[in-house]
Amino acid sequence: DAPLRVHAEARGKFIGYAANTGPLANEAAYRTIAASEFNQVTPENALKWESTEPSDGNYTFAGADQVVAFATANNQQVHGHTLVWHSQTPGWVQGLSAAAMRTAMQDHIATVVGRYASNPAVVSWDVVNEVFDDNGNLRTSFWLNTLGSSYIADAFRLARAADSNARLCINDYNVEGINAKSTAMYNLVRQLRADGVPVDCVGFQGHLAIQYGFPSQVRENMERFAALGVQVRVTELDVRMQTPRDSTKDTTQATYYRNVVQACLAVTACAGITIWGFTDKYSWVPDVFSGEGAALLWDANYATKPSYTAVHDALDDG
Ligand code: G3I
Repeated sequence: DAPLRVHAEARGKFIGYAANTGPLANEAAYRTIAASEFNQVTPENALKWESTEPSDGNYTFAGADQVVAFATANNQQVHGHTLVWHSQTPGWVQGLSAAAMRTAMQDHIATVVGRYASNPAVVSWDVVNEVFDDNGNLRTSFWLNTLGSSYIADAFRLARAADSNARLCINDYNVEGINAKSTAMYNLVRQLRADGVPVDCVGFQGHLAIQYGFPSQVRENMERFAALGVQVRVTELDVRMQTPRDSTKDTTQATYYRNVVQACLAVTACAGITIWGFTDKYSWVPDVFSGEGAALLWDANYATKPSYTAVHDALDDG
């Protein structure tokens, strides 16, 4: 049957994956699926600050350029992840004075976004990532502590100045359903737009786990953001479980994937869905959650799982 991207395109949605630059360079099975199944890609780590500017003013784009080249060769769009985040940002940034940190942020956004501004493959950015804690307060980080909350608006304005056409997103986890954190996100986006800050898009990461249940009111949550005039998208979808897999867990996982795809299909403003990887061979989950994994659509031997069928069939006929 046709690959995911064919069905997604027929529905006017993107279907993306997070790219790991190692196997993307040299593993045939990985490259084949990446090229054939998806029409969008997010570099999993290659556009983060520690990758692109490991020391002050020394920019390295080898990994990012590799992903952009692969995407271009395969007629895929690239989503840039991420410009301002508290994680995977080098120590030299974290210790700066307010004035120097502001300058570093200006230079970083201008350089990284500017590099790809005229590249037709690179269409969107996660400008800020994970600015909330789980209670819906602004996260305590070196950004907030040093610059105050204005760093968020400043980052969006700088990104717009560097690329007048790119779609600019705010991105977070545990905001898929309606809860205190997603309501805080909603209020922030509403305020930023009222202030004329160029926020065009809200990303719901979608790091789900079958043992914690499916979030409530995913579609309604997308719709309330859409009513603010922003595009929404699912940016990092995966559905982990306690390993080993079994058929019951696989079935539950497939239902979660189907529910997310169906929610996006039901909301005009939902542009698409990105899976945070595609094979269980390369997933962040087991490194972070001991005893958990098997979160993706293909197993570690590149065989499709029930979750692949669920995503495929939901894109095909809802
Ligand atoms: O590059 C080094 C390598 O040189 C070293 O030998 C190796 C040893 O541990 O580490 C490598 O760095 C790792 C990096 O991924 C690149 O592979 C880090 O240890 C590892 O912590 C890092 O993990 C990434 C994680 O973000 C870090 O926060 C995951 O791959 C990536 O999937 C994950 O993605 C995040 C999103 O950016 C934001 N939302 C949550 C999501 C999952 O945590």
